[in-house]
Amino acid sequence: MNRIQINTEHLKPFVSNDELQQILLEIRAAKQTLVSGTGKGNDFLGWVDLPEQLDPQIVESIRKDVARLTPMAQVFVVIGIGGSYLGARAVIEALQSEFAPCTPSQRPLVVYAGHTLSEDYYHQLLQLLDNNHYAVAVISKSGTTTEPAVAFRIIKAHMERKYGHSGAAERIIAITDARKGALHDIAVQEKYSTYVIPDNVGGRFSVLTPVGLLPIAMAGYDIDKLLQGARDMRQVCLSGDTYDDNPALLYAALRNILYRKGRKVEMLVNFLPNLKYISEWWKQLYGESEGKDGKGILPHSLSFTTDLHSMGQYVQDGERLMFETVISVANPLNRVAIPNDERNLDGINYLVSKSLTEINHNAELGTVLAHAAGGVPVMVMNLPIVDEYVLGQLIYFFEFACGVSGYTLDVNPFDQPGVEAYKKNMFILLGKPGYENQTI
Ligand code: PA5
Repeated sequence: MNRIQINTEHLKPFVSNDELQQILLEIRAAKQTLVSGTGKGNDFLGWVDLPEQLDPQIVESIRKDVARLTPMAQVFVVIGIGGSYLGARAVIEALQSEFAPCTPSQRPLVVYAGHTLSEDYYHQLLQLLDNNHYAVAVISKSGTTTEPAVAFRIIKAHMERKYGHSGAAERIIAITDARKGALHDIAVQEKYSTYVIPDNVGGRFSVLTPVGLLPIAMAGYDIDKLLQGARDMRQVCLSGDTYDDNPALLYAALRNILYRKGRKVEMLVNFLPNLKYISEWWKQLYGESEGKDGKGILPHSLSFTTDLHSMGQYVQDGERLMFETVISVANPLNRVAIPNDERNLDGINYLVSKSLTEINHNAELGTVLAHAAGGVPVMVMNLPIVDEYVLGQLIYFFEFACGVSGYTLDVNPFDQPGVEAYKKNMFILLGKPGYENQTI
């Protein structure tokens, strides 16, 4: 297994070996709490064993649904918000062409709904759906979240006009709770194909359930390899008790040491634009898991070199609030040569003998050295390539490290009580039945 590794070279001025050794007992205790299921939120630990225990029949059923729906759909609409869509989007966008919307493909183009209330967004989406055949996955664990419910109401009506009531039902897959919630009830009444989100897996930890696996497979990616990567990383995370053996322990330790030293912001940095949604998924995972009880590192993300030309000044020279975690990918999937130009008017002939990846890696190293010299602790997470297997590893790695880190911070990493506050206010403002006597 070519596994994810963390390079701590550029952290040396900021984190000592003694500090790492001092926190190791706490980190091991947090890991023990997680794997023994004795900590806060222990009714939401289903994700720990998910890669091993996922029923093969579920994967088989996903394969059948993909084979059934692909010939009838040029577009596949994934309706969901937060944990019910970010994991799928992170994997799909990491793997697909940046130009997928205008690249001919045998696979449906995956688009998203239910993650916004923008009227113009839905107008544009309906125009796309007018002109293309499509199928839908509607995903909500609670089955009652307003944003996906509104999106599904709009899209279901469009589908029924376009395909008739039973034609629409054949094109809809519902992924929700096994027993309760409005979406569950609709799916039963309308006889939709359904998948269950396990009770003990929270939204932001659900990418390796049908919530992520079905859209990822619809987009044409290999979910067996994704699961294999997660399985292999699970083995590493469960068995390793030292920093050398277990990069998740090292990551959890480093971020807690830095947080205790006043580094309240973690910037997840990539040098590849297709990793943008990995950062979005990671932000939810860590923000929702750790940001509570007045505590928690604020997860932030940047895409370099693009953002070096917007945020680079602040990172180099602004307030020293942050540390950086750089995702460094060794190899591209494809090569593009830089042509020689006899006249060399732009002065870049010195780059012609180098690959774009070599240039990007030098931009990365130059950035890491500059930021470290400017007082920003930087750790580098090395990935060999971006494919399904490595993404499976990365997902499990971040999930496991999040559990360990959250317990080290002494919060419940598996609840999200703070998400309810805006919903209550919105319901009062919109006059939802049952909220008449409540005040903001
Ligand atoms: O991680 C979480 O629990 C949340 O982000 C949820 O996934 C999000 O609020 C959507 O909830 P639901 O799947 O119930 O519609």
